[in-house]
Order: sequence, then structure tokens, then C-alpha cells
Amino acid sequence: MELQAALHCLHIFSPDPLAAARFYGTTYGMTQEAAPGGYRCRGPGRVLQISEGPVNQLCYAQFALHADAVWQDFVARVDGLALTALPAGFAGPAGSLGLKDPDGNLMVFTPPMTADVASQNPTLPPATLQHFALRTPNLPAMLAFYTEQLGFVLSDAVRDPEGNLRACFLRTDKLHHALALFFAPISCFDHQSFEAPDWHSMRVWGDHMGTIREPIVWGIGRHGPGNDVFFMVRDPDGNLAEISAEIEHCAPGREAGLWAHEERTLNLWGKAILRS
Ligand SMILES: [Fe+2]
Repeated sequence: MELQAALHCLHIFSPDPLAAARFYGTTYGMTQEAAPGGYRCRGPGRVLQISEGPVNQLCYAQFALHADAVWQDFVARVDGLALTALPAGFAGPAGSLGLKDPDGNLMVFTPPMTADVASQNPTLPPATLQHFALRTPNLPAMLAFYTEQLGFVLSDAVRDPEGNLRACFLRTDKLHHALALFFAPISCFDHQSFEAPDWHSMRVWGDHMGTIREPIVWGIGRHGPGNDVFFMVRDPDGNLAEISAEIEHCAPGREAGLWAHEERTLNLWGKAILRS
């Protein structure tokens, strides 16, 4: 049984928050407003906050539970785990809970919240903040924390010929993954994804990147795990930023899948960015 939660907001660090905020404004049509230490970028259903700090690092990811009953279940689940103080200036609902994963990434969980209703350039189609990814040198420990402690569900794993875990895709509701974990030499933020409603939207977003001369650095392709079509651009700090559509909706009780560690797994249509 999934947690019944969804990603609500990502907060990342950047050595140059203004440059990063301008990038997300231009590429993803998000408004920018000053926030403590940086900027808050908003579009309909998507919020990305950027504060001054080390490059390629997450400040926190915020998940909202879908209903009061599942929020109470989550509070009971984490009772007894070590909670972490919320960041200074955190403006989410009272009672929000913070927990750090084995790499020190802060996950914040909140009672139900309404989706952000910020306006955007009306020529751009919808795209909702849906998942993000982290790189980690401690993949088995990270998988155990998210599944056994927090209740995330493993949708698909990637293993090399020796049986070592190389990537994991974890869901918090029916959507295939809200969090992806990639084995890598260092712990850092990898990317966030905005989910568009259909193929036509992908085309419009792609044409938008062409119009503003923002090169697509990976894709368009289709991921094996999740079966979503995607493309990615790269922000000024080198973080990948994804537009995706058609992500798999998992039936209750879906068994975890197993994929080979090869380029085809991350892109059924061609080349891939392997993190290790
Ligand atoms: Fe992704």
C-alpha cells in the first residue's frame, strides 16, 4: 500500500540563485519572487525554491499527503524515528515533519495541501512537479530507508551483472516514481521532472525550448522504468531539468520490476546518461 503522497515543492541550493531562477523562469515559464536567501519560482502545480548554497545540493523536498487519514497513518509510521528541525523560514503547514535520509537529504512531509495556482505564460502547456532524483554512493541504505522507514514502494530496480543495485524508482502513490535514486560516486541532486498531460504538450514544450535556444541535452526518449517519454535541459548549475509525459500508473500490488544496467533501460529509444 502506497503512502498516498505527492511531491509538492523542491528547494535546491545554488551558488547563483538569481541565475538559476531566471533559467527556470525562461525555460519553464515560472514566476520569480524574492524569498529568504534566494528566490521562489512558481507555475501552476509546480514550485521550485532556490537558495544560495553549495552547487548540486538539495535543501529539502516537500511531500504532501493526499488526505487527513493517510496523514495520520504517516505520523504514526514515523513515530519513534529521529525527526529533524525544519529549515529556517519554512512556510508549510503547522505539524510538518522533517526526516533526513542516510546521505543527509532532508525530506519534509506535510498534511494535505492544495496545488499551487500560480499563473504562467498562457502559450505554455501544463506541467506539474512530479518527481525528482538523487545520486548516492549508499544506494542499498537509501533504498532501505525510503521503503522500510518511510513507506515508499519500489516500482523498479536496476542491477548490474554482479547483482549490485545501480538505480531504484520509488513511488508514493500510483504514479511510477516520485523519487529515483542513482548509484554514483558522490551524493548530490540529479534532476526534477515536470509531468505534462500528453504528447502534444511535449511537442509544445520542445518547440518552446527551440524558440528560446535552450538546447535539449537528452532526449526526446522513453525511459524503460516508468515508460515515460521525456526530454531534459540543463540548468546553469548543471542540474538536469526534465519534461515528461505518460508516466506509468501502477496498479495496487504491482510487483517490483528488474532491469539491466544498460543504456537501453534509461532510454528505450537510444542514448542514455549513466550516472555510474
Ligand atoms: Fe526523471
